[in-house]
Amino acid sequence: MKILVIGDIVGESGVEKAKIVIPQIKKEENIDFVIVNGENSAGGMGITEKIFKQLLNCGANVVTMGNHTWGKKDIFSFIDEPQIIRPANYPKGVVGKGYGIYECKNKKIAVINLIGRTDMNVLSENPFIKINEILEEIKGKYDYSVLDFHAEATAEKIAMGHYLTGRVDIIFGTHTHVQTADERILENKTAYITDVGMTGPEKSVIGMDIGVSLKRFETTLPEKYKLAGGDCICNACIFEINDEKRTIMKITRITR
Ligand SMILES: [Fe+2]
Ligand SMILES: [Fe+2]
Repeated sequence: MKILVIGDIVGESGVEKAKIVIPQIKKEENIDFVIVNGENSAGGMGITEKIFKQLLNCGANVVTMGNHTWGKKDIFSFIDEPQIIRPANYPKGVVGKGYGIYECKNKKIAVINLIGRTDMNVLSENPFIKINEILEEIKGKYDYSVLDFHAEATAEKIAMGHYLTGRVDIIFGTHTHVQTADERILENKTAYITDVGMTGPEKSVIGMDIGVSLKRFETTLPEKYKLAGGDCICNACIFEINDEKRTIMKITRITR
């Protein structure tokens, strides 16, 4: 089983890049399953139904979200679609779901989305407690488990990796928009990377216009963010599982 993960897709130009790159990687690398983080895909904040469908059409099996889940009101019209999940540790009663179980090559893949609490400015429940509840809920209902931990702090993500070693098969981070070079297989059991990176404008400050970003830092005034223009890069990761032994074999980082 080969699972492709595409980090935060930033803006419509990022979506266009994903539309080209996902089918290419799928074909070249014989990818079976694709997970895409779509929290910044519509104008840099949130996602629309149109973009959600475009991502599915170009090969995504699941779209995960993050702190910008509710950035576009459109989401309330398709949040119940099975292929979109949002952080599971929002308070009880919030619309949508925090995980899904998907069929692929006669296997069931549980994909879970959580959001961190360090420097995230989101009122969420403790992800370290929530994950235990979820793993209990889905016990016996899946073959492989994958977690998108959408978090700012490297330490929180690394801690989650160690916390879930041997309990979740693949853990990848999103949100910082910069791919980290720390991919590893923890205790030969759990594939881990702190951040997959982004698919969005290369000449930018994590996808946003450099001038606007500099003005914000220089003046501290609340200048409105603007998406950067220009060519996009795509950051992604491929996770390879040996289906016979049910073990993680390899993690490959990609930049296109
Ligand atoms: Fe984010
Ligand atoms: Fe993001």
